[in-house]
Amino acid sequence: MRRLFFHHLLAVSALLLAAQWGGGRAVHAPLVSPLAKDPATSLYTIFIKDGSGPLVVDLAGPLIWSACACASGHPTFPCGSAECAAASGFSCPPQGQEDYGGGGAAVDGGDHRCMCTARPCDPVTRARCAAGDLTSFAMSANATDGRNALYPVSFQAVGACAPNWLLRSSSLPAGAAGVAGFGRAPLSLPSQLAAQRGFGRRFALCLPGVAIFGDTPIHLGSYPPDLMTTIASTPLAANPRGSGGYYLPVEAISVSWSNWNVAPTRAALPPGALELDAATGRGGVTLSTVRRYTAMRPDVYRAFVQAFGEAIGRPGYVKTMPAVPPFELCYDTFSLRRVKVLGWDVPSIRLELGAGATMNWTVGAGNSMVQAAERTLCLAVVEMHGAEAAAPAVVIGGYQVEDNLLVFEEDKEVLHFSGLLWGSGATCSGFNFTAPL
Ligand SMILES: *[C@@H]1O[C@H](CO)[C@@H](O)[C@H](O)[C@H]1NC(C)=O
Ligand SMILES: *[C@@H]1O[C@H](CO)[C@@H](O)[C@H](O)[C@H]1NC(C)=O
Ligand SMILES: *[C@@H]1O[C@H](CO)[C@@H](O)[C@H](O)[C@H]1NC(C)=O
Repeated sequence: MRRLFFHHLLAVSALLLAAQWGGGRAVHAPLVSPLAKDPATSLYTIFIKDGSGPLVVDLAGPLIWSACACASGHPTFPCGSAECAAASGFSCPPQGQEDYGGGGAAVDGGDHRCMCTARPCDPVTRARCAAGDLTSFAMSANATDGRNALYPVSFQAVGACAPNWLLRSSSLPAGAAGVAGFGRAPLSLPSQLAAQRGFGRRFALCLPGVAIFGDTPIHLGSYPPDLMTTIASTPLAANPRGSGGYYLPVEAISVSWSNWNVAPTRAALPPGALELDAATGRGGVTLSTVRRYTAMRPDVYRAFVQAFGEAIGRPGYVKTMPAVPPFELCYDTFSLRRVKVLGWDVPSIRLELGAGATMNWTVGAGNSMVQAAERTLCLAVVEMHGAEAAAPAVVIGGYQVEDNLLVFEEDKEVLHFSGLLWGSGATCSGFNFTAPL
């Protein structure tokens, strides 16, 4: 029993702490995987799991899940295992938690009936969940030096088996096999890779083209420098009571024309509207890859659309168009200028970041406007409704970060961000997946 307990402790350390201290283990090469965007659902998928379709990228998600073929059998974990402890932090159903207390004894006695159960959820609604065995999935990716894919690497990752009904009833792309959580939890895909490979708790997402895991320079497309040396950065925050997502210290939102000499229009937000309340876990500005468009709590949304409407109306020539739900502010493209490379000439949105950021985050037309109907260009931001309004103040959606390089560095609690890459020569689809000879 004592030996087992010790063994258990070692396993927990290896799983959870190897990433922080390297655990004295070898550091392996960073990994790269291609991403794609599903046209029907606008969700992003990662090609990393062997023998099935891709997994949906869920930036705030705590774990990996996939439908398992029950007939074929799959590996399971005992309730007392380190992996089960890591999973239960989020999800173990009551029966799993009861079992956990006596898990060591159960293993000692060779009682393998006590299998660990996790709780995979539909990433889009997070409301529909199922109980599923914790298991191990075979995966592969390519090693990378940040410039090319080098050679294939196979590995195992712990994840939950989901019943087929969850896969079918979740709003996932038709060919997807499940979900890959990229959140802060120990069983998210980046956390597991960092622990296994000792390459630093860092991962990059460039939607919809590529994901890169580990501490590496990043070269995309024909832009010659290492992007890590040129892009901006901001401190990141965690939500102590929340979902394991990534929060940004946004203090204010303003809207301004870059080529009109007028002062920026600041959204008149209620005091503290964007703050994350550590006690309740509410509020804050977070990022999501399972939400299409940025969603704002009603008080923030009202102030923001007011500011945007004022700013775009200021030069006097932009004509409005009827709303195209879910969008409210729409404009006549015949009244707007088109700018080479950067798209429509409209005011930029600026997320004013707090202390420690090297730059404010500017969201240009390519990420802020969507052509919603003929002759109609709309502000691609939506208002939260109902119960959602008790969640974050702002959830920045996938459309707003496409063709942007985002690098999450958990040890330093820093997000590196490039802004829209258009015109720089770097593109999210520009990673060179051809291995050098
Ligand atoms: C690794 O890269 C090669 C091309 O260099 C590609 O054909 C292969 O599919 C990649 N493997 C994985 C697992 O992404
Ligand atoms: C962000 O914008 C605000 C308001 O214009 C400014 O005071 C602040 O210095 C900017 N922050 C950075 C890092 O440039
Ligand atoms: C991709 O890398 C290969 C191997 O180094 C190289 O031969 C090829 O020219 C690169 N492709 C581009 C578009 O840079």
